[in-house]
Amino acid sequence: MSLVDSFEKIPVQIFADDKIASAHVAREIADLIRQKQKEGKPCVLGLATGSTPKTLYKELVALHRHQGLSFKNGITFNLDEYYPIEPNALQSYHRFMNTHLFDHIDIDKSNTHVPDGTIDKNDVRAYAATYEKKIELAGGIDYQVLGIGLNGHIGFNEPGSGRHSGTRLVALDNTTRLANAYEFTSIAQVPRLAITVGINTILKARKIVLLGWGIHKAPVIRKSVEGTVTDHVPASFLQEHPNCSFVLDEGAAQELTRFKTP
Ligand code: GLP
Repeated sequence: MSLVDSFEKIPVQIFADDKIASAHVAREIADLIRQKQKEGKPCVLGLATGSTPKTLYKELVALHRHQGLSFKNGITFNLDEYYPIEPNALQSYHRFMNTHLFDHIDIDKSNTHVPDGTIDKNDVRAYAATYEKKIELAGGIDYQVLGIGLNGHIGFNEPGSGRHSGTRLVALDNTTRLANAYEFTSIAQVPRLAITVGINTILKARKIVLLGWGIHKAPVIRKSVEGTVTDHVPASFLQEHPNCSFVLDEGAAQELTRFKTP
């Protein structure tokens, strides 16, 4: 590791663009799925939504269609869902996952899990505990995919989320609602709440890969990778994970010290 790279407290891999980066991550996931198949075991994937992982899901669908990659041993747990929201609503993450991945691969849909945005408010606590339990019973997450919000959120763990937080109902930051307003007709339509797995839930995964594309993500990527670990930047908690890496395009990497101060 060079002197400059030593500013980085999380391993970073940089690719020319999001497509090449996504193909790399898709191959890694495919290798893991096949290895687990050989061992006769399920492969437990933690999945994210948002614009970032769309290219990854395209690559996974292509591997299924053209290279016979089977997801029959796949078990998936999504990070989050708006609350309240119906699963068939245009902006629901249930619908997102079906549209971008599950409808196009051979996964058993009963093995896919996305937090339920229709649960009664009084039942959310118990529901959240059950979601955590289901992850545990599946054997824990083998490979967790993450995106990152402009304020450093992972899942919907907004700034202020604690290192030991678990699955729960959270209030969305107005900056997040603004960033996601493009999915809705106006910001007023963006739900104020969401169900998200916690920072602790994420950190229990055996491997974590955070994807970041575009220069708009570069400042928060730098804070997460080089800054101090703080709940002001929830993604900085990933520095405490022994097997986490950031996969970036050139734009998202450009604020790293190694480029800023070569
Ligand atoms: C969304 C999701 C996150 C996602 C992030 C970034 O609201 N809840 O899981 O990583 O915000 O979104 P995007 O990939 O669209 O930039």
